Amino acid sequence: MERIPEPELMEKKEQVISYDEADFSEGEITLINQINHYLLEKNISLSEKDLIVDLGCGPGNISEKLAIRWPNTEVVGIDGSKEMILRAEHNKEISNNKKNLKNLRYICADIKDIKSTNFLLKKKISLLVSNSLIHHITHLEDFFNTIRSLSSSSTVNFHKDLKRPLDEKCALELKEQCSTKYNEILTNDYYASLRASYTFKELKNFTSDNDLSSLDVFEDGDKYLIVYGNV
Ligand SMILES: C[S@@+](CC[C@H](N)C(=O)[O-])C[C@H]1O[C@@H](n2cnc3c(N)ncnc32)[C@H](O)[C@@H]1O
Repeated sequence: MERIPEPELMEKKEQVISYDEADFSEGEITLINQINHYLLEKNISLSEKDLIVDLGCGPGNISEKLAIRWPNTEVVGIDGSKEMILRAEHNKEISNNKKNLKNLRYICADIKDIKSTNFLLKKKISLLVSNSLIHHITHLEDFFNTIRSLSSSSTVNFHKDLKRPLDEKCALELKEQCSTKYNEILTNDYYASLRASYTFKELKNFTSDNDLSSLDVFEDGDKYLIVYGNV
Protein backbone atom coordinates (compact mmCIF):
# COMPACT_ATOMS: atom_id res chain seq x y z
CA MET A 1 0.00 0.00 0.00
CA GLU A 2 1.34 3.43 -0.91
CA ARG A 3 2.05 5.83 1.93
CA ILE A 4 -0.35 8.76 2.31
CA PRO A 5 1.13 11.36 4.69
CA GLU A 6 -1.12 13.00 7.28
CA PRO A 7 -0.69 16.39 8.99
CA GLU A 8 2.20 16.30 11.43
CA LEU A 9 0.63 18.07 14.39
CA MET A 10 -2.64 17.04 16.04
CA GLU A 11 -4.09 20.47 16.61
CA LYS A 12 -7.88 20.17 16.27
CA LYS A 13 -9.56 20.37 19.64
CA GLU A 14 -12.01 17.50 19.00
CA GLN A 15 -9.15 15.31 17.75
CA VAL A 16 -7.11 16.06 20.87
CA ILE A 17 -10.05 15.38 23.17
CA SER A 18 -10.86 12.05 21.45
CA TYR A 19 -7.23 10.95 21.69
CA ASP A 20 -6.92 12.04 25.30
CA GLU A 21 -10.11 10.32 26.41
CA ALA A 22 -9.23 6.95 24.86
CA ASP A 23 -7.66 4.27 27.01
CA PHE A 24 -4.36 3.13 25.47
CA SER A 25 -2.92 2.02 28.80
CA GLU A 26 -2.27 -1.59 27.81
CA GLY A 27 0.02 -0.58 24.94
CA GLU A 28 1.64 2.13 27.05
CA ILE A 29 2.51 -0.31 29.84
CA THR A 30 3.92 -2.71 27.24
CA LEU A 31 6.13 0.07 25.89
CA ILE A 32 7.46 1.01 29.36
CA ASN A 33 8.22 -2.69 30.01
CA GLN A 34 9.98 -2.99 26.66
CA ILE A 35 12.17 0.04 27.44
CA ASN A 36 12.88 -1.30 30.93
CA HIS A 37 13.81 -4.69 29.50
CA TYR A 38 16.18 -3.09 27.00
CA LEU A 39 17.87 -0.96 29.67
CA LEU A 40 18.31 -3.99 31.95
CA GLU A 41 19.80 -5.96 29.09
CA LYS A 42 22.33 -3.16 28.52
CA ASN A 43 22.99 -2.91 32.24
CA ILE A 44 21.86 0.73 32.30
CA SER A 45 20.25 2.17 35.41
CA LEU A 46 18.85 5.69 35.38
CA SER A 47 19.35 8.14 38.26
CA GLU A 48 19.33 11.87 39.19
CA LYS A 49 21.83 12.79 36.54
CA ASP A 50 19.68 11.36 33.75
CA LEU A 51 17.29 13.13 31.42
CA ILE A 52 14.51 11.33 29.53
CA VAL A 53 12.86 13.05 26.56
CA ASP A 54 9.53 11.92 25.10
CA LEU A 55 9.13 13.31 21.56
CA GLY A 56 5.58 13.89 20.29
CA CYS A 57 4.31 13.34 23.82
CA GLY A 58 0.66 14.19 23.04
CA PRO A 59 -1.44 14.34 26.21
CA GLY A 60 1.45 12.97 28.25
CA ASN A 61 0.38 9.36 28.79
CA ILE A 62 3.84 7.95 28.13
CA SER A 63 5.69 10.89 29.72
CA GLU A 64 3.80 10.35 32.98
CA LYS A 65 4.56 6.64 32.99
CA LEU A 66 8.25 7.33 32.33
CA ALA A 67 8.35 9.88 35.18
CA ILE A 68 6.77 7.39 37.58
CA ARG A 69 8.87 4.41 36.46
CA TRP A 70 12.15 6.38 36.75
CA PRO A 71 11.32 8.80 39.60
CA ASN A 72 14.88 10.07 40.11
CA THR A 73 15.34 11.23 36.53
CA GLU A 74 14.15 14.42 34.88
CA VAL A 75 11.52 13.81 32.18
CA VAL A 76 10.64 16.28 29.41
CA GLY A 77 7.68 15.74 27.08
CA ILE A 78 7.77 17.68 23.81
CA ASP A 79 4.93 18.25 21.37
CA GLY A 80 4.40 20.82 18.62
CA SER A 81 0.66 21.05 19.24
CA LYS A 82 -0.33 23.72 21.77
CA GLU A 83 -3.64 21.96 22.31
CA MET A 84 -1.85 18.69 23.19
CA ILE A 85 0.57 20.40 25.57
CA LEU A 86 -2.33 22.16 27.33
CA ARG A 87 -3.96 18.77 27.73
CA ALA A 88 -0.74 17.20 29.02
CA GLU A 89 -0.31 19.98 31.60
CA HIS A 90 -3.93 19.58 32.65
CA ASN A 91 -3.58 15.80 32.97
CA LYS A 92 -0.51 16.23 35.15
CA GLU A 93 -2.38 18.74 37.33
CA ILE A 94 -5.38 16.45 37.91
CA SER A 95 -3.44 13.19 38.16
CA ASN A 96 -3.90 11.01 41.24
CA ASN A 97 -0.12 10.64 40.99
CA LYS A 98 0.55 14.39 40.90
CA LYS A 99 3.04 14.21 43.75
CA ASN A 100 5.06 11.65 41.76
CA LEU A 101 5.20 13.85 38.67
CA LYS A 102 7.38 16.64 40.02
CA ASN A 103 10.20 15.41 37.78
CA LEU A 104 8.08 15.95 34.64
CA ARG A 105 7.74 19.07 32.51
CA TYR A 106 6.44 19.83 29.04
CA ILE A 107 7.67 21.96 26.16
CA CYS A 108 5.67 23.01 23.12
CA ALA A 109 7.98 22.77 20.12
CA ASP A 110 8.14 21.19 16.71
CA ILE A 111 10.69 18.39 16.78
CA LYS A 112 12.16 19.73 13.54
CA ASP A 113 13.13 22.97 15.32
CA ILE A 114 14.42 21.76 18.65
CA LYS A 115 17.83 20.83 17.36
CA SER A 116 18.65 24.47 16.73
CA THR A 117 17.70 25.74 20.17
CA ASN A 118 19.18 25.09 23.55
CA PHE A 119 16.14 26.04 25.61
CA LEU A 120 15.67 22.47 26.44
CA LEU A 121 18.40 20.81 28.03
CA LYS A 122 21.12 21.52 30.44
CA LYS A 123 21.90 17.83 30.56
CA LYS A 124 22.65 15.27 27.89
CA ILE A 125 19.69 13.04 27.06
CA SER A 126 20.08 9.53 28.48
CA LEU A 127 16.89 8.09 27.03
CA LEU A 128 15.12 9.44 23.93
CA VAL A 129 11.67 7.95 23.44
CA SER A 130 8.73 8.34 21.09
CA ASN A 131 5.49 6.49 20.63
CA SER A 132 3.24 6.86 17.58
CA LEU A 133 5.23 9.82 16.32
CA ILE A 134 7.24 8.66 13.31
CA HIS A 135 4.23 8.20 11.02
CA HIS A 136 3.28 11.86 11.55
CA ILE A 137 6.58 13.06 10.20
CA THR A 138 6.29 13.77 6.49
CA HIS A 139 9.93 13.14 5.66
CA LEU A 140 11.85 10.42 7.46
CA GLU A 141 15.05 12.47 7.38
CA ASP A 142 13.39 15.08 9.62
CA PHE A 143 12.79 12.47 12.30
CA PHE A 144 16.24 10.93 12.06
CA ASN A 145 18.02 14.32 11.84
CA THR A 146 16.26 15.34 15.05
CA ILE A 147 17.19 12.22 16.99
CA ARG A 148 20.73 12.40 15.65
CA SER A 149 21.16 15.97 16.80
CA LEU A 150 19.58 15.35 20.21
CA SER A 151 21.59 12.21 20.91
CA SER A 152 25.06 11.85 22.31
CA SER A 153 26.98 8.61 21.85
CA SER A 154 25.49 7.30 25.11
CA THR A 155 21.85 8.24 24.44
CA VAL A 156 19.55 5.23 24.30
CA ASN A 157 16.91 5.68 21.60
CA PHE A 158 13.63 3.78 21.75
CA HIS A 159 10.93 4.68 19.21
CA LYS A 160 7.78 2.67 18.61
CA ASP A 161 5.20 3.23 15.91
CA LEU A 162 2.52 1.67 13.78
CA LYS A 163 3.51 -0.43 10.80
CA ARG A 164 1.80 0.30 7.50
CA PRO A 165 -0.59 -2.53 6.56
CA LEU A 166 0.17 -4.54 3.44
CA ASP A 167 -2.89 -3.37 1.53
CA GLU A 168 -6.06 -1.32 1.74
CA LYS A 169 -8.11 -4.40 2.75
CA CYS A 170 -5.93 -4.96 5.85
CA ALA A 171 -6.10 -1.24 6.68
CA LEU A 172 -9.90 -1.28 6.47
CA GLU A 173 -10.08 -4.40 8.67
CA LEU A 174 -7.97 -2.68 11.33
CA LYS A 175 -10.14 0.42 11.03
CA GLU A 176 -13.23 -1.73 11.57
CA GLN A 177 -11.71 -3.32 14.70
CA CYS A 178 -10.85 0.16 16.00
CA SER A 179 -14.41 1.37 15.50
CA THR A 180 -15.71 -1.23 17.98
CA LYS A 181 -13.65 0.41 20.76
CA TYR A 182 -13.24 4.07 19.85
CA ASN A 183 -15.35 6.96 18.56
CA GLU A 184 -15.59 8.04 14.91
CA ILE A 185 -13.01 10.84 15.14
CA LEU A 186 -10.40 8.55 16.68
CA THR A 187 -11.22 5.73 14.26
CA ASN A 188 -10.72 8.06 11.27
CA ASP A 189 -7.48 9.36 12.76
CA TYR A 190 -6.27 5.80 13.28
CA TYR A 191 -7.05 4.92 9.66
CA ALA A 192 -5.18 8.03 8.46
CA SER A 193 -2.28 7.04 10.72
CA LEU A 194 -2.16 3.51 9.31
CA ARG A 195 -1.93 4.89 5.78
CA ALA A 196 0.75 7.39 6.85
CA SER A 197 2.87 4.80 8.62
CA TYR A 198 6.17 3.54 7.31
CA THR A 199 7.07 -0.04 6.50
CA PHE A 200 9.85 -2.09 8.06
CA LYS A 201 11.74 -1.90 4.77
CA GLU A 202 11.48 1.90 4.56
CA LEU A 203 12.87 2.36 8.08
CA LYS A 204 15.53 -0.30 7.66
CA ASN A 205 16.67 1.06 4.29
CA PHE A 206 16.76 4.60 5.67
CA THR A 207 18.98 3.63 8.60
CA SER A 208 21.32 1.56 6.41
CA ASP A 209 21.61 4.27 3.73
CA ASN A 210 22.21 7.10 6.17
CA ASP A 211 24.96 5.88 8.41
CA LEU A 212 22.51 4.93 11.15
CA SER A 213 23.10 1.19 11.20
CA SER A 214 23.83 1.34 14.93
CA LEU A 215 20.06 1.68 15.28
CA ASP A 216 18.16 -1.57 15.12
CA VAL A 217 14.76 -1.78 13.44
CA PHE A 218 12.43 -4.66 14.18
CA GLU A 219 8.81 -5.67 13.79
CA ASP A 220 6.95 -5.97 17.08
CA GLY A 221 4.08 -8.36 16.31
CA ASP A 222 2.12 -7.63 13.15
CA LYS A 223 1.15 -4.04 13.97
CA TYR A 224 4.23 -2.23 15.26
CA LEU A 225 7.78 -1.28 14.44
CA ILE A 226 10.53 -0.42 16.91
CA VAL A 227 13.70 1.56 16.23
CA TYR A 228 16.20 1.37 19.04
CA GLY A 229 19.84 1.65 19.98
CA ASN A 230 22.43 4.39 19.78
CA VAL A 231 23.00 6.78 16.92
C1 LIG B 1 -0.48 9.88 17.85
S1 LIG B 1 0.06 11.12 18.93
C2 LIG B 1 1.02 10.19 20.10
C3 LIG B 1 1.06 10.84 21.46
C4 LIG B 1 1.87 10.10 22.52
N1 LIG B 1 3.22 9.86 22.11
C5 LIG B 1 1.21 8.80 22.89
O1 LIG B 1 1.77 7.74 22.58
O2 LIG B 1 0.13 8.82 23.49
C6 LIG B 1 1.32 11.93 18.00
C7 LIG B 1 1.76 13.27 18.58
O3 LIG B 1 2.92 13.73 17.89
C8 LIG B 1 2.82 15.14 17.73
N2 LIG B 1 3.66 15.55 16.60
C9 LIG B 1 3.53 15.19 15.31
N3 LIG B 1 4.46 15.77 14.57
C10 LIG B 1 5.21 16.52 15.40
C11 LIG B 1 6.31 17.41 15.20
N4 LIG B 1 6.83 17.63 14.01
N5 LIG B 1 6.83 18.04 16.29
C12 LIG B 1 6.30 17.84 17.52
N6 LIG B 1 5.24 17.04 17.75
C13 LIG B 1 4.71 16.39 16.70
C14 LIG B 1 1.34 15.38 17.47
O4 LIG B 1 0.97 16.71 17.71
C15 LIG B 1 0.72 14.37 18.44
O5 LIG B 1 0.47 14.95 19.69
